[in-house]
Amino acid sequence: MPAVVETIAGLRSQLRIAAAEAATASSPQPLVALVPTMGALHDGHLALVQRAQESAAIVVVSIFINPLQFGSSEDLDRYPRTVDTDVECLRAAGVQFVFAPTIADMYPTGPTQTRVVAGDIGAVLEGNSRPGHFDGMLTVVSKLLNIVTPDIVVFGEKDAQQAFLVKRMVADLDIDVVVETVPTIREDDGLALSSRNRFLDGNQRTAATALPRALEAAASSAGAGTDAALSAARSVLEAEPAVELDYLAIVDPETFLAVDAEHRGPALVLVAARVGTTRLIDNHAIHLG
Ligand code: PAF
Repeated sequence: MPAVVETIAGLRSQLRIAAAEAATASSPQPLVALVPTMGALHDGHLALVQRAQESAAIVVVSIFINPLQFGSSEDLDRYPRTVDTDVECLRAAGVQFVFAPTIADMYPTGPTQTRVVAGDIGAVLEGNSRPGHFDGMLTVVSKLLNIVTPDIVVFGEKDAQQAFLVKRMVADLDIDVVVETVPTIREDDGLALSSRNRFLDGNQRTAATALPRALEAAASSAGAGTDAALSAARSVLEAEPAVELDYLAIVDPETFLAVDAEHRGPALVLVAARVGTTRLIDNHAIHLG
């Protein structure tokens, strides 16, 4: 069984003991990897865990549904809470530590007075649709990095803007950690795995495949440029009435700024849409010709 630790002090002391036990003459300071999650684990999370295990001797998976990153009209209450199943799944994967703090452990005096501000890129795309989301996300990620002090932290490429902003925070604030990213895991029909997919009924689940199909259409038309890629993706989404588009954009992966019609080379096409009451996001690397 992994050690399920709820308190910050408890985790710090157990990690010190584990590091001393795992130390060898050739590796006196065994590497520690952190996989931050909000639980409701699926194979996408397990791919992050596997990367962490390949990279480090000690793996910590945090499970914490961070209220700071949910807006007042968002799905905090409905976010799936499946800690027992999650712990069982992490046990089967051979994870040593699950850090599952309570809200009172993480925010003993209420929401933090001090926040990490995500800046301009934190205010576009997801940040435009979910004001404050990225400040809350970066604030909890920086707390988790301070608590665990990992050598490596692993994020999924499905949340591309999140991974971009974490890398920026780590660079901007000189945090001593390597940020690794892992490709999105998909169902056979292309739908990206997400903890929110469980809310889709049968028809919505079918409609949701319009997102990966739109991204594939953009990739296929990318040789003809930005406008062609966007319009190919938009046609797929518009053909699916159950999909309510939030945004569709193509950005430069180096800056996360929208590319213009003349842009050539690597780019990232991103989509967010609501299917019923469930909000889904996805993205795909493309090459604009
Ligand atoms: O991607 C998530 O699940 C969350 O945003 C994270 C990184 C665990 C921070 O709460």
